[in-house]
Parts: sequence; structure tokens; C-alpha cells
Amino acid sequence: MRLQHLALVDFRNYAAAEWSPSPGANVLLGSNGAGKTNLLEAIHLVVTGVSPRAGRERDLVRWGREACSVRAQVVRDEFSGALDCQVVWDRQQGKSVRRGGKALTGAGRTAVLGGAVLFSPGDLDLVKGPPSSRRDYLDLAAAKTLPRYRGLLRRYGTALAHRNRLLADAASGRSRHLSLSELQPWTQQLITLGGEVLRHRLWALSGLAAPARAAYARLSDSGEALTLTYVPAAGQAEPETAGMAVHPANPPTTVLPGWAADHPPSPAATAAHLAQAFAERQADELARGLTLVGPHRDELILSIAGAPARVFGSQGEQRSVALSLRLAENVFLRQALQDTPLLLLDDVFSELDARRRMGLLGLLREAGEGHQTFLTGTDLAGVPVEGFAPMALFRVAEGRIAPADGH
Ligand SMILES: Nc1ncnc2c1ncn2[C@@H]1O[C@H](COP(=O)(O)OP(=O)(O)OP(=O)(O)O)[C@@H](O)[C@H]1O
Ligand SMILES: [Mg+2]
Repeated sequence: MRLQHLALVDFRNYAAAEWSPSPGANVLLGSNGAGKTNLLEAIHLVVTGVSPRAGRERDLVRWGREACSVRAQVVRDEFSGALDCQVVWDRQQGKSVRRGGKALTGAGRTAVLGGAVLFSPGDLDLVKGPPSSRRDYLDLAAAKTLPRYRGLLRRYGTALAHRNRLLADAASGRSRHLSLSELQPWTQQLITLGGEVLRHRLWALSGLAAPARAAYARLSDSGEALTLTYVPAAGQAEPETAGMAVHPANPPTTVLPGWAADHPPSPAATAAHLAQAFAERQADELARGLTLVGPHRDELILSIAGAPARVFGSQGEQRSVALSLRLAENVFLRQALQDTPLLLLDDVFSELDARRRMGLLGLLREAGEGHQTFLTGTDLAGVPVEGFAPMALFRVAEGRIAPADGH
């Protein structure tokens, strides 16, 4: 996929900006707060349909304004013609998406146009952050390839909130005694929707695990292997302990209990698994007033040589794991969408030592020729321009993007 033209109106700190990037590597330089990250966010949003940042989408609208628009002309690998696409976020009416001048409605609103992968300094949170960071990683990868996945997550979240309220009210004595027949329909919904979430996550994981392992092998110098282990919350074992049990000789992914990662379980299998877990944890749930079973509590454990990187990884190892996850996302999207993802590298190289810089550059080059790449930095010293020849240089300042001469 290639971005030919981008037009922003009232998007974050941009009042009105137009930009035609080059088809190869684009280096965006600007001082802190100039709007470099915002620009990458706009590209990610218009191409994938989702913002790469967690948080409220209404924050995309420039302060004091009612609506923002991101409009792009893009070309997919196998088409020669440019497609016009636009995402509008209106404070009153929410999000709307147009493709080729036509408004998309319903599930189509999230239709996937192509892939984009954002590498950001915050990616270290994938390794060091709470389990929700790693769940978000899987969810974002799935959402970028399956338009309906976002809706599924939303419905799961709504059902979960209802069930939690019932449990919390009963546990705190705010409501009369909670009858199990009242809880049961919500449990059933969580079994059905949660089972689907689980299947989608495992499907994404099956495409991510091997490339993540391969990337890590190239970025680290220890020869130790990266393993991704999906641990459903229902298991009685503590996730960190369960992660320890994975031997490096194992395949790149394992899931509990006994599911092969390359063959995600059937709907019946996930439903049966969740139903049993709910039955086992019922007393706990009633006592604590909280839903303790389901994908909202699952963990993805990243381990190096069998030890969880979150706890035992050195700073450098953790950084390599985070990079490996993004490189894997690129491989996964390319395969799932049959199109070359855009690579958005937000101030990534300045934080890497020379070895990892070279490793990342090599991997990006191998990931395939023809990637359109966007790199940001405050100055040229933080960007390995030599690795991206030929490249076009732009300066971001005062809400504008202008060609720069490099001096
Ligand atoms: N909705 C909004 N309306 C107006 N301004 C916003 C909005 N959201 C964010 N901003 C502003 O956009 C500015 C630029 O942010 P951005 O993160 O893109 O900078 P940057 O160039 O990446 O800086 P750095 O080099 O520090 O990473 C920030 O100062 C922020 O306050
Ligand atoms: Mg930034």
C-alpha cells in the first residue's frame, strides 16, 4: 500500500494541512510537540480505520472545534488507481468513513483498507506494562485484519459491564439477593462472545508468534528464544508461574490447556472451556462481586529462555522483544491483507544502541522491498538516514509539513 496524498482538517494540532509523501522513505523532522506523532496517528487511522493510541477518539478533534477530517489518496499493491478515503470524527455524530466518495455504514464503517504498523517508544509497555497492554496488542492486530472484531469486543465489554454490575450490587448488599437465574443469561453471553474473542486472539497469535521469535533471534545476541504463551484467566495457576513452565525448546506459542496454537480451538471448545471455568469460579465471583473469568483477564506471557521478560528481562532485552512484536505485526498484516503495510517509525532509532539499530534496519529491509516508510525524529542525528536511501526529508512545524533540504 502506498499513501499518495494526505489532507488534515482540525486533526489534533493541525488546522489545515496537505502533504504528498514520497513513495519510499519519508523522514519527518520537527521539535518536540510539533505534531510528528499526530501525523503518524492520522496515517494509521485513515489506512487501518483505528487509532493506534488507546484513549478516546474524540480527542482527535482539534481543541475548540466540532469535527476533524483525515483524507487520503492511497494505492493498494495490486491496483493502479488511487482510492480516495476519508475518516471524519464529529463531536455530535461520531465517526464516519467514506471510500471513493461513498459513505460506509454499519459494519462496513470499519472496513479494512490496508495495513500500517506503528513502532513507538511507548512500545516498551508491551513488555513492561500491565497484561492489558499485551491484550491490546493482540486485539489491535486482529482488528486491523477483521473489520467485525471491534464490534465483537464492544459487545463483550457491554455484557461484561452488565454482569459486573449485578455481581457488585449483590456483593455490596446494594441489591436484594442475586438469583443465579438472573446472572445466567449474562454468563451465557460472556461464554459465547468471550469464546469468539478468544478464538480471534489465538488466530492472531498463531500468525504473530513465529515471526516474533525469528525477529528476536536476529535482534538479540544471546541466542535465547522468545516464546509467546497465551494463558486464559480461568486456569488456576498464576500466569507468571505458568509462563515459567514454558521450555525454550517448545514451539513459539503455547496455550493452556492443550490447544495447539496453529489450530485455534473450535467455538464449541472455547465455549466448553469458559463454561467450566465459570462453574469453578462461581463462589469466588459472588464473594468478590466481579467477573473473574474471560478474555478481559487473560494474559499473554512473553518469555525469553523460559523466564517472563516482564520480570526478568534486561532493559535491552525488553526493547528487543517490543521491536520483535511490531516486526511480527508487519509480517502478520502483510500475510493476512495480501498488501504491503506502511511502516510508521516514531522516534524509534534514537533509543537503540548501534547493534539493535543495525539489526532493525536489516530486518526492515528484509521484511520486503517496496514498503513506504515514515520516520520521525527531532534532528537527523536520531535517524539512520543512510539505511533508507533514497529518502525524502520534511520538516514539521506550526501545523505544516514542508520539504526540507537536510540542513
Ligand atoms: N485535540 C488536540 N487539539 C489540539 N492540539 C492537540 C490535540 N491533541 C494533541 N495536541 C497537541 O499536539 C501537539 C503535538 O503532539 P505530537 O505528539 O504529535 O508531537 P511530536 O512532534 O511527536 O513531539 P515529540 O518530538 O515530543 O514526540 C502537542 O503539543 C499536543 O498538545
Ligand atoms: Mg512524538
